[in-house]
Amino acid sequence: MVSPFDRLAYAARQTARVAWYAGHYAAGLRLLKPMPKPDFPVGPTPSRAELTADMRALFEREWQDIEAGLYAAPGVRQPELSEFLRRSLLYFRDLPQVDARRHGQSDELPPGEQGDGLPDYYRQNFHFQTDGWLSDQSAALYDTQVEVLFTGAADVMRRRVMKPIAEWMAGRNQRDLRGLDVGCGTGRLLAFLHDAWPGLRLSGIDLSVPYLAEARRLIGRTARVKLIEGAAEKLPFEDASIDFIVSSFLLHELPQTVRDEVLREMARVLKCDGLVVLVDSIQRGDQPEWDGLIDLFPHYFHEPYYAEYANGNLQAWGEAAGLSRAGTERAFLSKVMAFRRA
Ligand SMILES: C[S@@+](CC[C@H](N)C(=O)[O-])C[C@H]1O[C@@H](n2cnc3c(N)ncnc32)[C@H](O)[C@@H]1O
Repeated sequence: MVSPFDRLAYAARQTARVAWYAGHYAAGLRLLKPMPKPDFPVGPTPSRAELTADMRALFEREWQDIEAGLYAAPGVRQPELSEFLRRSLLYFRDLPQVDARRHGQSDELPPGEQGDGLPDYYRQNFHFQTDGWLSDQSAALYDTQVEVLFTGAADVMRRRVMKPIAEWMAGRNQRDLRGLDVGCGTGRLLAFLHDAWPGLRLSGIDLSVPYLAEARRLIGRTARVKLIEGAAEKLPFEDASIDFIVSSFLLHELPQTVRDEVLREMARVLKCDGLVVLVDSIQRGDQPEWDGLIDLFPHYFHEPYYAEYANGNLQAWGEAAGLSRAGTERAFLSKVMAFRRA
């Protein structure tokens, strides 16, 4: 049972997060040099008021699910206050380098340095991030960068995968279930899943050792959550061995051929009655009045594979991999798509 106090606590926590990251966003706009205007056609874009209203509606939907008992109100899942503040400072210290890359001084990770042996498509400064996915500093900065980009709504978008999972789990015993987060990064979604259903046996897989270390710090030492260094396109699991699979904001970072392999791997390791829930950027036509955002995003951020992703069709890719769509929700700037085995 949730009380009016729980609702107030949820609202206060989420409002504080949004205000904090929206403040970073506004400060960043002042610090960054303006980018040249795009010299290509740009579709319609929403106003800030429209975006804010849509984000608010998303928090409201999450609250309704919490109230309906689908899962408990999420904790903050932040590092200690001093570390939290240090990360904001690091974020602002790194901005001039990010800005220099945005303005053409791109320095992809040179061979012979970080991540030797990892695939070329992976060894890039995604988001113009210093060190790409490949340093402790990048791992420490990542969550702040993403929350600033989404003005405090990244976590709630990730958590929308929990609704279809909660519905699918009805009548199942969490202690019997194995879940997998593919491209788990710094582990925020795993942490929320672990908090909501501590009996689950969870694994997270990612190619980045520093991001996995960050995930371990966030989640803490528990045998219930295993973290594995490995490639999403070669999942180290038996056929039909995993009950549910989630993945947040991975697919748009992958070239088409790798993305297709990843989806096929998910279908391979999923049990017959299992569930896959993916959350990633909206694609063209999901919210046609916002299509301009899809045009602009890869212009402002280093996102080598985003345009191909955003102009494609996640449902069709899932079906080609042997999955069939079981539900979709647009969640602010992302969409959540659930699949079963076809
Ligand atoms: C945009 S981040 C998303 C991280 C996390 N899921 C989240 O919600 O923030 C993409 C993550 O995918 C990982 N990644 C990219 N390509 C991968 C691959 N082929 N196999 C495993 N992990 C990969 C990166 O290391 C990074 O941690």
